[in-house]
Amino acid sequence: MVDRASLAVLVTRPIVEGSLEPLTDAGIRIQQWPVDEPMPRATLLSQAKDVDGILAMITERIDPELLDAAPRLKVVANFAVGVDNVDVAACTRRGVVVCNTPGVLVETTADMAFLLLMAATRRLGEASQAVRAGEWRGWSPWFMLARDVHHATLGIVGLGAIGRQVARRARGFDMRVLYANRTRRPDLEASLGVEYVDFASLLRESDVVSIHLALTPETRHLFSTEQFRAMKRTAVLVNTARGAIVDQAALYEACRSGEIAGVGLDVTDPEPLVAADPLLSLANVLVVPHVGSATRETRIAMGRLAATNIAHVLTGQRPPAPVNPEALGRDRRAD
Ligand code: 8YV
Repeated sequence: MVDRASLAVLVTRPIVEGSLEPLTDAGIRIQQWPVDEPMPRATLLSQAKDVDGILAMITERIDPELLDAAPRLKVVANFAVGVDNVDVAACTRRGVVVCNTPGVLVETTADMAFLLLMAATRRLGEASQAVRAGEWRGWSPWFMLARDVHHATLGIVGLGAIGRQVARRARGFDMRVLYANRTRRPDLEASLGVEYVDFASLLRESDVVSIHLALTPETRHLFSTEQFRAMKRTAVLVNTARGAIVDQAALYEACRSGEIAGVGLDVTDPEPLVAADPLLSLANVLVVPHVGSATRETRIAMGRLAATNIAHVLTGQRPPAPVNPEALGRDRRAD
């Protein structure tokens, strides 16, 4: 029998109120970092010492050093669907369950991808900035000419849950939707109205390319000079996945030289992007600060799912979203 009163969970940020009820309802003690900034590494290492679970943000690196510092740790629940901040293999070896928040942020993030798709295509950031800078000198048949979103060709790279929701949104704009994916999904093609193509054809034919991949060693810098050259000069790129999937120096060059028409980014490499970054000197670059899932409803759902993941693991139930289910039921051990 688990003695719940002795269980403790470290929550590494203040999160939207009410999200942690699944932990308090289970009688688990919460130790929460009170500042809305990443926990200093040394503090994280020392506070991890006596806890059974960590509810972590993407700003915390969960690696062998952290696991060594946390001998009781049984579960890490990431407050994100992406787990590139977590060394999942090291967790599995030590019997630590890793969980994430799939599903609950899909539509919200797809909304953001579509928002960036439209904004980058119609030069919204640049147009708004021009008004603020006093560059709106009256109506002109030439001012801020852009390209149409409706009936354009959208290339979705990665037809996972978010990619599929972006495809659904594109149908409302009568777009032609292409997708490239590790495995072809004939089961989805008719219902979503999407066509499977190889990556090279997608780059060549799309007016908008939208990235919906996890960051892995294989996808790091998947977009670099060669890929930008392969895209239409009138095309825009959208990234709501992870910044490092794009080689940002190559992206700067492609946007500067007109190799592509522009970009809409919710994610960058690194984050935060400093205001002096060369990318931000380009008018055709629109960057928002990793807010793809940032709605109150979705952040509550993410927090509740992360908290439920932890409560379930610590009370011997199957968590709703394990990333390494092979670690379930294993004893905690040293590497
Ligand atoms: C999160 C995300 O809001 O879930 C992810 O992987 O990128 C976002 O939805 C962000 O990671 C902060 O937790």
